[in-house]
Amino acid sequence: MNLFSIKNLTKEYGEGGAKVVALNKINLQIPESKFIVILGASGSGKSTLINMLGCMDTPTSGEIFFGDSEITNFSKKQMTDFRGKNIGFVFQSYNLLPDLTALENVEFSTELSGLSRGEAETALEMVGLTERFNHYPAELSGGEQQRVSIARAIAKNPKVLLCDEPTGALDFNTGILVLGVIKKIHKENKTSVLLITHNQEIAKIADIVITLRSGEVLSISENKSPLEPLEVTW
Ligand SMILES: Nc1ncnc2c1ncn2[C@@H]1O[C@H](COP(=O)(O)OP(=O)(O)OP(=O)(O)O)[C@@H](O)[C@H]1O
Ligand SMILES: [Mg+2]
Repeated sequence: MNLFSIKNLTKEYGEGGAKVVALNKINLQIPESKFIVILGASGSGKSTLINMLGCMDTPTSGEIFFGDSEITNFSKKQMTDFRGKNIGFVFQSYNLLPDLTALENVEFSTELSGLSRGEAETALEMVGLTERFNHYPAELSGGEQQRVSIARAIAKNPKVLLCDEPTGALDFNTGILVLGVIKKIHKENKTSVLLITHNQEIAKIADIVITLRSGEVLSISENKSPLEPLEVTW
């Protein structure tokens, strides 16, 4: 069973002379339970693609299936429900609420789907932040803040973790640590991961690498022996 099937997917922004074709009739089968990297230069359509998959935005034309269910023409309410049930997002910016502690930041999102404090604690333990439950974002390093945002994304145990340049704002060593946390979640929770990067070295940790260029799929390659984050360098 595929996690996502994408048929003739097109996304255009703007109109007339200002029209931008961000994705141009792309077709993809994305298998489940894999660690997938989406690679491509700036402007190639990476964020646009995962925003469609995560029901953050709707396509201009084409079809997206999640398993057997078509999600293309969902209403706003259906999109919100779908995200709450299935998707965890991690972005380059951590988007934590400054007046809430690490634990409260995780709980805040988990409460939306009715999960408990215990589950928020488990998520923070999973990312190695047991000692930081009661710290505010300003009292945490960038890497720690990103790990809180990952804990928030995984607390409801989503089927898919969508990560858009999660190490983009981090130094090399911290980036490797954060990638290690994402890989661990993938392995231990069997969460499917789609991770965007423009860094070819990071692509070496993936099972499958999908390369985009100018809104089209340039290539799909399988890594027979993906590296561990600690084995890559750039
Ligand atoms: N809201 C928007 N309105 C108009 N054009 C947009 C919008 N969002 C993206 N685009 C355009 O669509 C194209 C694809 O953008 P997208 O953000 O998907 O690229 P990306 O691969 O994620 O790039 P980056 O690596 O810089 O984040 C770009 O040409 C971009 O300028
Ligand atoms: Mg982007």
